[in-house]
This record gives sequence, C-alpha cells and structure tokens, in this order.
Amino acid sequence: MSYAIIGFGAVGQALAHTFARKNIDVAVASRRPAEALAPQARAIGPGVVAKSLRDALEADTIILAVPFGEHREVAKALPSWEGKTVIDATNAFGVLVEELDGLPSSAFVAKAFTGAKLVKGFNHLVAATLAADPIVEGGHRVVFLSSDDEDAIAPVAALAKRLGFAPVTLGKLNEGGALVHARGRTWGQLIFQDLSKKEQ
Ligand SMILES: NC(=O)c1ccc[n+]([C@@H]2O[C@H](COP(=O)([O-])OP(=O)(O)OC[C@H]3O[C@@H](n4cnc5c(N)ncnc54)[C@H](OP(=O)(O)O)[C@@H]3O)[C@@H](O)[C@H]2O)c1
Repeated sequence: MSYAIIGFGAVGQALAHTFARKNIDVAVASRRPAEALAPQARAIGPGVVAKSLRDALEADTIILAVPFGEHREVAKALPSWEGKTVIDATNAFGVLVEELDGLPSSAFVAKAFTGAKLVKGFNHLVAATLAADPIVEGGHRVVFLSSDDEDAIAPVAALAKRLGFAPVTLGKLNEGGALVHARGRTWGQLIFQDLSKKEQ
C-alpha cells in the first residue's frame, strides 16, 4: 500500500506526524510545488516526502485534507479514480444542506471521485489532538470510519491500527456515519469526542 495526504495544512501536517511516528512512508502535496512543502515535510520525518499533486496521486490510498470546497479540484486532477481509496477527512461545517444535494458531505465528495472507494475518517478530532500520540492512558485513541462501500473500510481500519488508533466502524455514511458529519451549522454528535479504547 502507498499513501498520500493531499492538503498540508493543520490536518495534513497532523496526519503526517502520525505516519512519521510509525515510520510509514507518506507523500504530501498541496497546490504549491513540492519544493515549497519539502522543508516542513522533512522536519516532520524522513519518510514524509513532498511531491507535486500529480505525483502524490499515484498512491493507492489518498487522504483528503483540503478545505471542503476544494475536493472537486483534487478530483479533477486524475482522469479516473478506479482502484484508489480516498479517505475523506474534510468537514462541511458551514456548507448549506442544499449545496450538498441533501447528501451527507462524504457522499457528495464521493460523487466527484468516480470509481474510488471512499471512507470517511480522521475528521472528527481537532488537528492538535490528531497529531498527538494516539496511545493514551486507557488505550488507543478512537477514529471513526464510515463508508457506503463495506469492503473499503477494512484496509483503512488496518491503516488506522498501524498508526496506533483504535478504529470504530460506524457503517454507512447516512446511517452511523451521520454522527461524524457536519452540515450547515450542525456538527455530528461524535465530532470532537476524544475517546479511547483499551483494545485496538
Ligand atoms: N483544523 C482542524 O482541526 C480540522 C479537524 C478535522 C477536520 N478538518 C477538516 O480538514 C480539512 C483541512 O482543514 P485544515 O484545518 O487542515 O485546513 P488548512 O490548514 O487551511 O489546510 C488546507 C490545505 O489544503 C491545501 N489545499 C487547498 N486547496 C487545495 C487543492 N485544490 N489541491 C491541493 N491542496 C489544496 C492548502 O495548501 P495550498 O494553499 O498550498 O494548496 C493547505 O495545505 C477541512 O476540510 C477541515 O474541515 C479540520
């Protein structure tokens, strides 16, 4: 498996720290050229490699850590998303429900990434918490995963475990997944809940 984080702001950098902590290689990219991101990437760890957006998108598994509205631009960068897994870490707080065609935000994002397997995850914690060591007193920090594609969740759960988190699967995006979605002025009930589990 190869991994890339698209968006290298608060969440992208937080996630890069989690990969670096476990020595798992990850590409990072934004709209800026790789050279502009490289010093910050290197400072996080030797396995965090800044790439151009196009090169980073060669990874099998892509974590989306851009402002919600920018997902379309990222989606346009590849002619086909067949064979890719997209982990949607975005939140659509402040986006009107009508602008999402009435869908959960990640189902709306999934429409732009035609052919990809999409899993919502790593979106419910503030960046500083996400960046911190997920091995906490009492066990492993919980991340919630949801998807309309049941097969897509297992490899993302395996990645979450490798990173030290305890994945908790919520089911489909408009079922359990609704608890970790933001829409309009409403945050899902599990967003910001920093929970831990004894076992991964
Ligand atoms: N901040 C949090 O605590 C937090 C927690 C959970 C989830 N989230 C969600 O995570 C997402 C990112 O939030 P953030 O706080 O990390 O935002 P941020 O600090 O503003 O970072 C956004 C990053 O996305 C890049 N970017 C913007 N448009 C892009 C495009 N079209 N293609 C590639 N890269 C692009 C920006 O870099 P360039 O300008 O160089 O392109 C920047 O590195 C949001 O959807 C947010 O709702 C945030």
